[in-house]
Amino acid sequence: MIPPALQPEEIIAELQAVGSAYAEKKPGAREQLLNLSHALIASLELPSETIQRMAFAEPARAAHCRIAVELKLFEYLKESGPDGISSQDLAAKADAHEVLISRMMKHLAAMNTIHEKSPDIYVSSPFSEALTEPKHRDGIIYTYDVAGPPLRGLPEYLKSIKYDLPTDLTDGPFQAAHKTQLPFFAWIDQNPPYLQLFNSYMSGYRAGKPSWVDPDFYPVADRLAKPFDPSISEVLLVDIGGGLGHDLVELKAKHPTLPGKLVLQDRPEPVRGARAYYLHSVLHDWSDDDCVKILEQLKPAMEPGYSKLLISEIVVPRQNATWPVTVVDQVMLILVAMQERTESQWENILKRAGFRIQKIYRYEVGTESLIEAEME
Ligand SMILES: C[S@@+](CC[C@H](N)C(=O)[O-])C[C@H]1O[C@@H](n2cnc3c(N)ncnc32)[C@H](O)[C@@H]1O
Repeated sequence: MIPPALQPEEIIAELQAVGSAYAEKKPGAREQLLNLSHALIASLELPSETIQRMAFAEPARAAHCRIAVELKLFEYLKESGPDGISSQDLAAKADAHEVLISRMMKHLAAMNTIHEKSPDIYVSSPFSEALTEPKHRDGIIYTYDVAGPPLRGLPEYLKSIKYDLPTDLTDGPFQAAHKTQLPFFAWIDQNPPYLQLFNSYMSGYRAGKPSWVDPDFYPVADRLAKPFDPSISEVLLVDIGGGLGHDLVELKAKHPTLPGKLVLQDRPEPVRGARAYYLHSVLHDWSDDDCVKILEQLKPAMEPGYSKLLISEIVVPRQNATWPVTVVDQVMLILVAMQERTESQWENILKRAGFRIQKIYRYEVGTESLIEAEME
């Protein structure tokens, strides 16, 4: 997307061009602006500045957000409205040292997380307000407490296994960091409140991003509702491993006239003969062999020539994958010793499981695609 080693002047010119597209609300312009902005920072920053930002500024901001969530500081900021609140008052409400809170607030303001309205008086930003909503607030706790330790320990862990590729669900960076032999999902299950926090985070993780149920992505009405045959099953779509059911809620809200039932399913035997079986960010948690097993288990429930398989996953491009793609691949590595996959890797898994890809639907620069497949 962005050729390497562009000069700052060239990036600025591109920013201006994409800025016009953004003003005209062109799809994808916002994401392009973000990519260009990151590229501009990379081209302007000195190595010493980059190291300082990576090693200190961002980790300190993450730690401060985690602390602020614990102490409800973002709630107090929100309640104070446009007048703002002093660090002294924040400290009193949180029962913390006022100098400590003042220094944290200064850094959060310097990192655009909140704003300093006048000396040591702070107001919310849209981001800090978002962190008062459960789905984002819980994301701060989950990402810091659960994903933070294996990421921090990754260099030491990989050295200990002589830079082999972790592929074992029960023996990877996650187990080393959390001193467990349990796979990720079993661990969060047994360590309250992390299952609830993970589910809440998953419901917020894609909020506002392009989704396959949006217009001009996947033609939902054409591909699912026509034809829908209630004599085969009254179920339109089964969301397998659907977490809190947030995808079904979104599908219903954006397509209120769709026929048939929407089913959230976590049990091994899916309902039979549904028009579509849908797996969102499920298969990336599993090895190729396990994916083949999961897909093969769906086949007896599917009606040949009628039921569709819909897989919503990242399809990693062959070149210049953006960081929202590469970072999810890294998260898969540290949590479940798995990976995000390229188109040919998806093709291979589906073929092994006896499915044929009909089409892969992509949306502008959205990170997740929708793979539509049917049984061979
Ligand atoms: C990454 S989450 C994706 C959730 C949801 N589909 C979404 O995209 O937001 C993976 C889901 O797989 C479910 N899961 C993990 N292991 C499972 C198993 N053995 N059987 C059924 N579901 C499982 C988890 O409970 C979780 O909801």
